[in-house]
Amino acid sequence: KKIIFSGVQPSGQLTLGNYLGALKNWVDLQDDYRCIYSVVDLHAITVRQEPAKLRRQILETYALLLACGVDPQKSLLFIQSQVSTHAELAWILNCYTQFGELSRMTQFKDKSARHADNVNAGLFTYPSLMAADILLYQADLVPVGADQKQHLELSRDIATRMNGLYNNVFTVPEPYIPKAGARVMSLQDPTKKMSKSDENVNAYVAILDKPDDIMRKFKRAVTDSEAKVCRGEGKDGVNNLIGIYAAVTGKTEEQVEAEFEGKGYGDFKAAVGEAVVETLRPVREKFEQYMGDKAFLEQCYREGAEKAYAVSRRTLGKVQRKIGFLSR
Ligand code: TYM
Repeated sequence: KKIIFSGVQPSGQLTLGNYLGALKNWVDLQDDYRCIYSVVDLHAITVRQEPAKLRRQILETYALLLACGVDPQKSLLFIQSQVSTHAELAWILNCYTQFGELSRMTQFKDKSARHADNVNAGLFTYPSLMAADILLYQADLVPVGADQKQHLELSRDIATRMNGLYNNVFTVPEPYIPKAGARVMSLQDPTKKMSKSDENVNAYVAILDKPDDIMRKFKRAVTDSEAKVCRGEGKDGVNNLIGIYAAVTGKTEEQVEAEFEGKGYGDFKAAVGEAVVETLRPVREKFEQYMGDKAFLEQCYREGAEKAYAVSRRTLGKVQRKIGFLSR
C-alpha cells in the first residue's frame, strides 16, 4: 500500500475549509492507503499560545479528527510533540534548506507581516519541520488544501536534494489536492481564504458550529447582483458557494449549476447551508462523545505516539547514518 501523511494544526476552531480541503479526504483515503495523520502542535507554537488553551485545543483537535472519521484501527493518529523524531529530523533538514528558499514562502511572508512582534526562527523554519513530518514516514502522497502546495514543493526539493547527496534516502512525496474544496473562501470576502483566525465570525463556518449559526452564516454570505447561480468572473462569492455545495454533495460544479438554474440566491444559499449542516451534524455529535471519554482519548494518542515513533525512528536512523553520524 502507498503511504499517506498529513497534519493539522491545533489552532482554535477548525473550519469547513479544513474539513473540505483536508480532513474529509483523510477519511476517504483510509481504506486504500496506509494513512498516518498528526495533530501538529510543534507547528502551532510558531505563534504565541496560551498553555492551558493550547493543551485543550490539542486534545479537542485529536477528538475532532476521530469524530470526522479517522479510525485508529485503520490509520495512525498521533500528536506531533509526543514523537521526538520530528524535531530531530527537522534540525537535520534545516541544515539542508537554504535561507533563500525559506524566504520565498508566501505563508512566512504573510504571517511575519501579521505577527510583526514575534517573527521567530521557528516561524521561518516551519517548512523544514513540515518536510520532516512527511519524509519520516516515506510518504507517497500528502492530502492538503491548495494553500499548502508551496510548502509541499519545498519538501519535495529537500527530499530530492538529500537523495542526490546520499542516494535513496527519502520517497519524494506528491501533493493530493481535491478537485472540489481545495480552496474554500471566506463567506464575507470571497477573495480571501476561509480562515479560523478571521476576526469576523460570519466569514467562516467552524466544523462544530451549531446548525442555526451555519444557516445564518450562509444566508449572509456575500454574493453579487447578477442573481444567477453559475460560475464566472467577478462572481467569487457564488463560485465559492458552488464549490462548497459540490464538495459536500459529491456533485460536479456543472451539476450544481443545472440544479439551481432559474433559482434565486435565497434558495441556493439555504440549500448550501442545509447540505453543510447535515454533513457536519454527525461530526459534532461524535465529537461530544469522544470528549466525554478522556481515558479512551489518552489511550489512543499514547498508542499512536508509540507506533509513530517506531516507524519514524527507522528513517531517522537511516538519515543519521547516511550523513555521517555514529549509530547508537
Ligand atoms: P492547517 O492546520 O493550516 O490546515 C490543515 C489543512 O486544512 C487545509 N485548509 C484549507 N483547505 C481548503 N480551504 C481552506 N480555506 C483551508 N484552510 C486550511 C490546509 O491546506 C491543510 O491541508 N502546515 C500545515 C500543517 C502541516 C502539514 C504537515 C500538512 C504540518 N505538517 C505535513 C501536511 C503534511 C498547516 O498549517 O495546515
